[in-house]
Parts: sequence; C-alpha cells; structure tokens
Amino acid sequence: MSKKAELIYDGKSYQIPVVEGTENEKALDISRLRAESGLITLDKGFKNTGSTESAITFLNGEEGILRYRGYAIEDLAEKSSFLEVAFLLIYGELPTIEELKDFQERIVHHTLVHEDVKSILDGFPSNAHPMGVLSSLVSSLTAFYPKSLDPNRSKEEVDGTIIRILAKLPTLAAWSYKNRMRQPVVYPNNNLDYCSNFLRMMFGLPTEEFDVNPVVSKALDKLLILHADHEQNCSASTVRIVGSSHASLYASVSAGIAALWGPLHGGANQAVIEMLEAIRKDGGDVSKYVAKAKDKSDPFRLMGFGHRVYKNFDPRATIIKKAADEVLTELGVNDPVLDIAKKLEDIALKDDYFIARGLYPNVDFYSGIIYRALGIPTDMFTVMFALGRLPGWVAQWKEMRENNEPIGRPRQIYTGYSQRVFSDISER
Ligand code: SDX
Repeated sequence: MSKKAELIYDGKSYQIPVVEGTENEKALDISRLRAESGLITLDKGFKNTGSTESAITFLNGEEGILRYRGYAIEDLAEKSSFLEVAFLLIYGELPTIEELKDFQERIVHHTLVHEDVKSILDGFPSNAHPMGVLSSLVSSLTAFYPKSLDPNRSKEEVDGTIIRILAKLPTLAAWSYKNRMRQPVVYPNNNLDYCSNFLRMMFGLPTEEFDVNPVVSKALDKLLILHADHEQNCSASTVRIVGSSHASLYASVSAGIAALWGPLHGGANQAVIEMLEAIRKDGGDVSKYVAKAKDKSDPFRLMGFGHRVYKNFDPRATIIKKAADEVLTELGVNDPVLDIAKKLEDIALKDDYFIARGLYPNVDFYSGIIYRALGIPTDMFTVMFALGRLPGWVAQWKEMRENNEPIGRPRQIYTGYSQRVFSDISER
C-alpha cells in the first residue's frame, strides 16, 4: 500500500500519493492536485520539484554520493574509460569486450562531418565563442541527417542518430576551436582513441604529424567521465524538455549546449579561471575576494563554489583536485593559480558564511586548472564540459522518449493586470 500525505485546504482534505525511489527518496505525486483541489505548486528554479523518475544517475548531496547506473563515480573515474561509461549511461549496463569493441567501431566510422559544415563554420567570425559555434553546428546536423528529425523512427535508426552525435561532437568541437584560431581544420584519424583523436584535431595541423601525450589523453578521458551525467541539472532538463516536444536529438542537444554555456552552470569552469587570474593579477589576496563573495552589496560570487544539490562536497571536485596535482606534476607544469585555488578553498571552508550555506568547491572549481595544463584555451573549457556531458544528455533524452513522457509545459501564477478596456492610441 503506497503511503499518502494529507493536504487540508479551505476546510477540505486531499490525499496525495507519496512516491518512493530505489534510494528511499520520497516525493508527493501532485499529478491530480489541480484537478482535485484547483491548486498548483510554485517552486522557482525547481529547487524542491522532481520533473521525472529516472534510472540513470543517483546523487546524494548531503553525503556526496554520485553513481552512474549504480556504479560509484570514484570507481568509474579510476577503472573505466569514457566510451565504456558512455555505453553504460546510454544502454544501462557496462559493455562486454565485444559490445565495447562494436560500439567503438561504430563510432569510429562516423567521426567525419559533411564537407558543407566547413562552409557554415567559415560564416563565423574568429571571435565567435566556441560554445555558440558548437550549438549551431550540432543543430546543423539536422540538415545533413533529415531522418534524425523524427525521433519516432525505428530503434535502429534512433541508435544510428545517437552514434553519429557521439562520433561527430569531438570533430565539431575541435573545428569550433580551429575557427577561433583561424587555422585549417584537421580531419579525424580513426586509428586513434576517442580523446587522442580529439586532441589531434584540436592541436594538430593538416601539414604536420602530431603526437598526442598519453598523460594528456588519459587525464582528458578521466575528466570526460567525471562530467558524463548529473541527473536533472539545468542542461539535462533543457534536453529533456526540448525532446519532450518530439524535437530531434540534435535539436535537443543543441539546446543543452546553450543551457550549459551559462556561467552559473557549465560556463563556471571558464569563469573560475578568469576569477583566479583576476585574483592573481590583483596581488593574490584571496581574503579580499572571500569578503567580496560574502558582501551582499557586491555582485561578485566565488565561481566554482556552491551547488544546488551538493551541500557537503562534490565528489567530482575531490577527484579532480587530486588529478590536478598529479597531471601538473607529470607534465612539469607549475601554475600559480592552483595555489590560489587551494588558498581560496582553505579560507572558504573555514568561513561560517560558506559553511552555513553548504558552499563547497564544485566540479568546475579545479577542472579549468587541468584543462589549462593540457593546453586547452579558457573559452574552450565549457566545450570540454559539453563533450563530457553528451552521453548523459543522450541517455536522459532516450529515457524520456522510451518512457513516452508528456510534453513539458509548467503552469504559472499570473500577477499581471486584470482585464482592461482597449483604448485607441489617440486617447492614450
Ligand atoms: C554546475 O545542477 C548540477 O548538477 C550542475 C552541475 C552539473 O554537473 O551539471 O554540477 C554543474 O553547474 C556546477 C555549478 C557551477 N556554478 C558555479 O560555480 C557558479 C557559482 N555558484 C552559484 O552561483 C550557485 O552556488 C549555484 C548556481 C551553483 C547554485 O545556486 P542555488 O542553488 O540557486 O543557490 P542560491 O543562488 O540560492 O544561493 C544560496 C545562498 C545565497 O545566499 P543567501 O541569499 O542565502 O544569503 O548561497 C549564496 C547565495 O548568495 N551563494 C554564494 C555562492 N553560491 C551561492 N555566495 C557566494 N559565492 C557563491 N558561489
């Protein structure tokens, strides 16, 4: 017998079913609330509102737990590979050796993009932010693969659409960077692994051999795993709501990239480095910036700090902080902003303002330091986040479609004028 909650309003009693998840999370199922009571709920930013039931990712913000399909992020980051994690998120199980080989083979044969993409790319000025270019190029895939416009095609055709976006996003991302650098694009080399192929397309030139540093490729693979999914975050919710109108996967991912771009979301990794650089140029006085972050009259926020769900620590930040030390040491990179980041973390974690609000470093706080050490330019950091988050977006879109979820269309509370009589302009 499912539990119920009782709502008493205006002298009437309403029984509201309580839904319980695998990890004992509980929710009031209000799907009948308006029909029975005339009431709706209001929750700006959906801080207390579940939008769906999902079997993909579980996170516990109080205990700093993150699992993809039940597997702990710590294990996946240490023992798995990005493509293996992508398979897990999208299809629900870790692949066998044969399944992973087939998955990699299928991806390898779709890394090329249509030559006309270069004409679209050439239309962007070199100062175009790579996230804007990437979102546009992903949306343009609907023109080259018109069958992808219909998400209700056969399972095999939808899976082909999924494989194509997984295969082509690294190419489009690297080409977005080449547009920035006004350099000729580098075509994919299908003898390389996923990350090495991307790095070669990013940093290589068509006229030269390019040897990928295995330390860099391995570090990137781990970073992509750590970014692969995060349940109903802003960009995943965007992908779901766009997909709920039966828009195509490519249109939904293009919208997800746009949502991720914001500095409060994935754009924070770029904003963190810009903040750390500003602190360094200002003499490195981290206490001054901690004070600014606490000052309500000052719009400054400690970028890379705080999280809607994690109120103790973000397990990804813990792994990335350790990886930052390892990668910079292995590469012999001494980056002064790493020391500033650690000082900032030390001070903030002892400060009541941050402790009281559960503000701790999140995934974006240290990731930019590694990207920088890998030679990735600052305005490409959020593109890296998009590369990592792609399998998560695909898995969320696929689950929403397979569960045949209704179109997302929230209600509102109207606060504007009551009815008014129209007056002719001569009388205004
Ligand atoms: C990501 O959702 C996800 O899962 C996202 C993500 C993913 O993998 O998809 O984890 C990736 O987006 C990580 C977050 C990256 N963003 C940043 O680092 C930007 C800085 N952080 C914040 O702007 C903020 O913490 C958010 C946006 C992350 C969360 O904001 P909330 O949950 O809406 O909280 P809030 O803005 O209402 O803040 C609560 C309080 C406020 O103070 P009071 O009004 O209670 O006095 O905390 C304060 C805020 O002023 N606060 C901060 C702060 N973050 C929150 N104060 C100073 N510096 C900060 N960074």
